[in-house]
Amino acid sequence: MTRTFQVSLEQQVFSVEAEQPILNAALEQGIAWPHRCRQGVCCRCLARRISGELVYHGMAPMLSNAEQQQGWFLACLASAESDLTISLEG
Ligand code: FES
Repeated sequence: MTRTFQVSLEQQVFSVEAEQPILNAALEQGIAWPHRCRQGVCCRCLARRISGELVYHGMAPMLSNAEQQQGWFLACLASAESDLTISLEG
């Protein structure tokens, strides 16, 4: 059974399946999310986790530990591990 989580992004809410990149789920549901490479290189999809848990499958993000501890993540690589509240702004 696939787990599905809710992602709150400012005034919008969308759903994401476990192991699905958050960016893919957002774009499929009509969220205007800046992006380019979808491979963890350009950092255009950078977002900030306010609450909840996320995980990277496969490729590690090109972000420092400090940036990750501050909540920054790459949405093209990260998946949800719980319901999330996130922001596209610092
Ligand atoms: S879209 Fe390029 S790093 Fe995510």
